[in-house]
Amino acid sequence: MSCPGNKKNISIIRKKFSLAMKRPLSQIQFNINTNRQRHVEGPRPREISIEIQRKTLPINRVKRRLLMEIEKAETVILLGETGCGKTTQIPQYLLERKLNRDGIIGITQPRRVAAVTVANRVAVEMKTSTGQAVGYTVRFEDATSPLTKIKYLTDGMLLREAMSDNLLKAYNFIILDEAHERTIHTDVLFGIVKEAQAKRKSSNCTPLKIIVMSATMDVDHFSKYFNDAPVIYIEGRQYPVEINHAVESQDDYIYSCLVTIFQINREAPPNHDILVFLTGQEEIETMTANIRAIAKDPLFSGPNIKVYPLYAALAASKQLEVFHSPPPNTRKVVLSTNIAETSVTISGIKYVIDSGMVKHRVHHPGTGLDVLKVHSISQAQAWQRAGRAGRESPGFTFRAYTKSEFDCMVKNTVPELLRSNLSNVVLQLLALKVNALTFDFLDKPPKDLILEAFDQLKQLGAIDNFDDAQLTPLGQKMSLFPLDPRFSKVLLEAEKFGCVEEILSIVALLSGESVFVNNIAKREEAAAAREKFSTSAGDHITLLKIFRAYNSINTKHAWCYENFFNSRNLDYAKKVRKQLSDLCRRCDIQIKSCNQDFDKVRKCLISGFFMNMAELQRDKKYLTVGSKQLVHIHPTSVLSGSLPQVVLFTELVQTSKCYMRYLTPIDSLWADEIKSKGPTISGFSQVD
Ligand code: CDP
Ligand code: MG
Repeated sequence: MSCPGNKKNISIIRKKFSLAMKRPLSQIQFNINTNRQRHVEGPRPREISIEIQRKTLPINRVKRRLLMEIEKAETVILLGETGCGKTTQIPQYLLERKLNRDGIIGITQPRRVAAVTVANRVAVEMKTSTGQAVGYTVRFEDATSPLTKIKYLTDGMLLREAMSDNLLKAYNFIILDEAHERTIHTDVLFGIVKEAQAKRKSSNCTPLKIIVMSATMDVDHFSKYFNDAPVIYIEGRQYPVEINHAVESQDDYIYSCLVTIFQINREAPPNHDILVFLTGQEEIETMTANIRAIAKDPLFSGPNIKVYPLYAALAASKQLEVFHSPPPNTRKVVLSTNIAETSVTISGIKYVIDSGMVKHRVHHPGTGLDVLKVHSISQAQAWQRAGRAGRESPGFTFRAYTKSEFDCMVKNTVPELLRSNLSNVVLQLLALKVNALTFDFLDKPPKDLILEAFDQLKQLGAIDNFDDAQLTPLGQKMSLFPLDPRFSKVLLEAEKFGCVEEILSIVALLSGESVFVNNIAKREEAAAAREKFSTSAGDHITLLKIFRAYNSINTKHAWCYENFFNSRNLDYAKKVRKQLSDLCRRCDIQIKSCNQDFDKVRKCLISGFFMNMAELQRDKKYLTVGSKQLVHIHPTSVLSGSLPQVVLFTELVQTSKCYMRYLTPIDSLWADEIKSKGPTISGFSQVD
């Protein structure tokens, strides 16, 4: 294919993009092999029957030997290329051979989307429906039944189950999948499951078998940790992938990715699908809207394009669409977060466009604050992304970064446990009667991080002191909620303020993705619609007002459309709220409403977020209390443009600056109340 800077063919893109972006296209040239590849049309592989697809998976070739090894060993470490069949096939093989001895086979996934889609796929392969022999459990959703023998669940859910049964007796197999992702939950599970296995062995219970799987991991490290467990390698099908780097450094990776999509669309046959790696829902939805707008232009040339977004918060039915064939003569363009790196396999992909970016939460031990941040991926991730183009035939990868930028990337992703706020982990371990300071971690987090978490839990009232590390009755209740401890605290305190109804809604709304639709073309209309609900009482109360209005309307979908709200995310919040209110009832919490007395809600938020406050300085800038970090009000906040003396925030986002998102102004008269909360806010200066 030729260079994306080819000006003759890209006038439409330039025209459309003058709306939002303005850089000359010629800067996005790639180092492209001058030997043009011939593209040959062929049938889409997804049209092959499921039975044949299963039989031709690389894992099927080693099935017998694999099962022999699994039967012999207590723990097995399994390394196999993405798409070779680990996640979907191994549980079925174990069940066919009855190796589970009637116990459940649990397979953990770091992401909800993977647990749901894979369970649905396996149900189809087993000719049953999800929730029967195969099911899934993810936060706020349980699709299992007493018949379920193969259970896909998020790592967080298995950890919750371990809290009520630390021997995990319902399971005879635990498969820890995507081990390389090293999420906090998976890292904790390594230790929990290892201990459950040892305890079951010493007390003559049915043995617990463990399989640790990944497409890319340091097998020696894992093998050593799991008592020198045997390592099995499965060779996958990997075709050559031509890697192209941007010639010059790109200051707008979204723009670069977009231009590249249209360039490929003009050059390649329509059955060659494109997978684009972006960082999150908002970015993906904006690009989806932009692609659709460009493709509608009468001057648009090339095959039709159908866009498929893919991110964790997307409704399950929408997530599944990504596996469907597009209409005839139409190119599938999947816009995904790093979910598509290893967790899900989408057939038909011939081109990968890699933004080089990922979004995750980073904890600053110095300030004690968590920041959601978009930053460079690791080299290991870049290779995984590139590999997605060569699953079925030779493919192409376009990297929106230069070769020297690639060389500067870190080699491997740092485990989440080593860069996160550990208060939730420490709390959950304490609920399991385990002290994080002595826990057998695969890689021990720095002691300072653990101590900081203990400190935060003490301030929240979940523990009394560090030494005996016992949960207080409040701490025990907090551990029952699948929430950040600060949110659990707010929810539990809400009873005293008489605003449990309201806090339930706010916590549910903050548990999912944004309820606002980011429509670039209709930005002003969207802002006007939003204005109707805005209040100077801040973003949390604004969200609450939107949610109340949503619940009182019958024609929800049309109402959301008119007001630029995301009905999927509002509906998700409704489901989350239901689960949380059930948990409250189980904890005997009285669910009362404060009606319009929103001060109660605002004060209640302080009980969990007294560490997340910022104060206006003489120079009109905000510094966080305690840690004195410079922060700004996010432009999407209803408080943007106003200058409250003190604000509370529930999220920090780092883009060009460090922004506070979701803010509530704090009345200066409440300062004393805030001051009495603990040592972290001792830096709070006098508010008058
Ligand atoms: O876990 P691993 O990456 O080794 O592979 P897998 O998830 O078991 O997927 C094996 C094959 O099943 C993939 O190559 C896909 O073709 C197919 N699959 C699918 O069509 N739909 C899904 N939701 C999951 C897998
Ligand atoms: Mg897998």
